[in-house]
Amino acid sequence: MAVDFAQLVADDYTWVSRQAFRDPEIHAAEQERIFKRCWMFLGHESQVREPGDFFTTYMGEEAVIVTRGLDGALHALVNSCRHRGMRVCRADRGNTKRFSCPYHSWTYNANGELIGVPRRKEGYYDEIDLSRNGLIQAAQVDSYRGLIFATFAAAAPSLRDYLGDMAWYMDLVLEREGGTELIPGIHKWIVRANWKLACDNNAGDWYHVAFAHGSSAKLNQNPNQFDEDDNRLQISAETGHTLCAYRYKPGRRWMGAQHQPRILTEYFEETEARTAKLLGPDKGRVHFIAGNVFPNFGWIPGSYTIRQYHPRGPDQTEVWSYCLVDAAAPREVKDAMKRMYTNSFGPSGLLEQDDGENWTGCAASSNKPVMGRESFNYQMGVGHEWNIPGLPGQHVGRATSEVVQRSFYRRWLEQMTGRSEPVLRVIAREG
Ligand code: FES
Ligand SMILES: [Fe+2]
Repeated sequence: MAVDFAQLVADDYTWVSRQAFRDPEIHAAEQERIFKRCWMFLGHESQVREPGDFFTTYMGEEAVIVTRGLDGALHALVNSCRHRGMRVCRADRGNTKRFSCPYHSWTYNANGELIGVPRRKEGYYDEIDLSRNGLIQAAQVDSYRGLIFATFAAAAPSLRDYLGDMAWYMDLVLEREGGTELIPGIHKWIVRANWKLACDNNAGDWYHVAFAHGSSAKLNQNPNQFDEDDNRLQISAETGHTLCAYRYKPGRRWMGAQHQPRILTEYFEETEARTAKLLGPDKGRVHFIAGNVFPNFGWIPGSYTIRQYHPRGPDQTEVWSYCLVDAAAPREVKDAMKRMYTNSFGPSGLLEQDDGENWTGCAASSNKPVMGRESFNYQMGVGHEWNIPGLPGQHVGRATSEVVQRSFYRRWLEQMTGRSEPVLRVIAREG
């Protein structure tokens, strides 16, 4: 029997059926309705600076090669030969003029065009049309302040429209003199949990931090590090893109983590005036802690981390984790940022270990005869959301709430049903 997606999520998005986190049919539908239609994060322009530069990644479960083409444009090519489907590129990254399939050696250039077929005369009698057999490409490829995205949907809105208000918050990290770049190398590991469990946490789950990561606060000799306070918010930026953030009093801004090395404190002090000028007064008082660009592009800027949660069937997620730094920062500063990233959200990072263990436990319980019939609860703070004038995003809540998860599952439902779901009514108040 076909799944009725609308039955999986409550009308006010306060619960989601555990079926959504294990069912192969739902997973297959997600590939069609979410990963084939949304804009997907692919990587950073610093990975493909020169014509012929490439790296491999995924759009959902579809393997792709991202190239800087011979024409200088970005391409997202499906990494599957048009002859019999073999991967034409098995390297993680590099520079090449051509991709030659290991099976029968059909050969494509960096723009994805088929340029060579062995024994074309003897085998195909010169009757094969190379121009009709190039690699399948994403319908649109674009970048936002150095971050590369693509979509398979020709009818999708532009990247800028897709990001909507979330771009304002992404600017808090990306708007730097000299831009940003990735530290070379990607950490990759598997978590035995559905991708949505990782994303609804990365969406801005501040609630777990004091508890799941409590030992880290103790190690930093700062037991109050994760307490609730009036500066901390959850923010739903249209639509399904979310974050948790600090919003300080005018004129104050974030100066790094309390336990950061001295070199980073000095770096923030030294660059403060220039960064504040770039961001302006409204952005300058907001600090982006963690968030998620729908569907699966996670941000943890306080730890210099961005990441993708690649779905791998309904019960596994492949995490790809990157360290994003200010491109113009001195080498020693970048090294210090890299160490902070590795120690917190690298695969053996103190915080990462806490999260993966919890998602695995949540997923394991959802496949059982008793608890598998129940739902996950996202009711915290429902009806207590408000708007803050001048802060983009349709509604905000206290740090200790589940505004962001309700926004995430509202968008999930919209994608799955094709319907536009109602926005919850919020209280309008200054704040
Ligand atoms: S599968 Fe690629 S050339 Fe045959
Ligand atoms: Fe966490």
